Amino acid sequence: MTPTPTPDRTATGCPVHHGYRPFAQDDPFPAYAALRAEDPVMYDERIGYWVVSRYDDIKAVFEDWKTFSSENAQAPVRERGPQAGQIMEDGGFTAYSGLSARIPPEHTRIRKVAAKAFTPRRYKMLEPQIRANVVQLLDTMLARPGRRGDLVRDLAYDVPTVTILTLIGADVTKIDTFKRWSDSRAAMTWGDLTDEEQIPHAHNLVEYWSECRRLVAHAHETQPDSLVGDLVRMQAGGDPISDHEIASLCYSLLFAGHETTTTLISNALRVLLSHPEQWRAIVADPSRIPAAVDEVLRYSPSIVAWRRRALRDTEIGGVAIPEGADILLLMGSANRDESRFDQGEQFDIDRPNAREHLAFGYGIHYCLGNMLAKLQARVALEEVARRAPNLRLADTADIRFGDNLSFRAPVAVPVTWED
Ligand code: HEM
Repeated sequence: MTPTPTPDRTATGCPVHHGYRPFAQDDPFPAYAALRAEDPVMYDERIGYWVVSRYDDIKAVFEDWKTFSSENAQAPVRERGPQAGQIMEDGGFTAYSGLSARIPPEHTRIRKVAAKAFTPRRYKMLEPQIRANVVQLLDTMLARPGRRGDLVRDLAYDVPTVTILTLIGADVTKIDTFKRWSDSRAAMTWGDLTDEEQIPHAHNLVEYWSECRRLVAHAHETQPDSLVGDLVRMQAGGDPISDHEIASLCYSLLFAGHETTTTLISNALRVLLSHPEQWRAIVADPSRIPAAVDEVLRYSPSIVAWRRRALRDTEIGGVAIPEGADILLLMGSANRDESRFDQGEQFDIDRPNAREHLAFGYGIHYCLGNMLAKLQARVALEEVARRAPNLRLADTADIRFGDNLSFRAPVAVPVTWED
């Protein structure tokens, strides 16, 4: 996907939007700092959103769900083209957000049921499988001649995908299919596609949604020991959730449940290996890994921006916001705001308040899968620290991030090692 290039300066040399380019993710941090300092609540007419960059303002918006609704969180940033729309209609695509774009009281009702299915028992059952999967993938990479690997493709891509497919009860041999569908979902919702470019993605979304419907129907028939099985049993026991809502949860989880965690594992290794003294510290003492994971989430979150809509005339940080306004909350910026985090631009696994980051949002929509994401990142770091303590980044300068409004994911993390 190629975003429309936006010049950084006007003809007279003034910075445009303080260098902020909504879809460009290689290094958004200097622009975030400029926005926080000079224009913390800025209207960006290129996307039609009010862009909010300071920690306190963002947290306050997340907290006030009565004024700022999440109903636009899954809306396509670029309007759906006529052909893509037709393909989706003909294909029976009626998916709606599982939770993140639903609002109370519907959100409260579905979240209550869904939260019961995210049990510690399921996490406990998953941890040995996650570890075995990490070990197998790492051993395969390390055995490859030439001592070169890509931590995204060789490790981070598969681990959370297998986990979420197992949790849901979907076919774990179809990793590439689910990844393809997820890429289409990210591109169709948060990307900058032309009408023409949307067409193949529309076909993918039709397939993706019909698989979610099939999973629910299958769970009714076979009563599997999986999260969908649990939801179907809860429904039979009187919990208020429909088949369409369960399928919508699958549609959400089969995306949210791996895409962001692939990025977290990639970022954790990328950032730690580019701070070798901190990498050595966790190799020497793996009990420091959970704190390091929180610092990675602060310093380099998988989701750098999330959306809300103003339900009435209001204000953010003293700036008047009209009813109906779309708002983009830059968590990637909030997480480096010096008013909350000392030396916010520095990566420091000893930071005492790293856990105050907003990488998982805040308030009633706070990420339901945060513990599962952190568990997988912890296990991945533990095993890499144990099996490949001498891992090094092969070429940091080459690390690029895909274009997207919200998701900031490294395309590859090339590494090398000594035997
Ligand atoms: C590093 C990994 C992850 C990150 C950075 C992340 C981030 C987020 C963010 C920013 C939100 C929106 C919060 C808000 O609107 O206030 C969210 C919501 C959600 N996430 Fe995650 N997430 C991650 C992993 C996961 C995983 C592994 C799962 C499931 C297995 C998951 C399931 C969900 C669900 C269901 C919601 C909607 C919650 C609601 O609206 O009530 N996420 N996540």
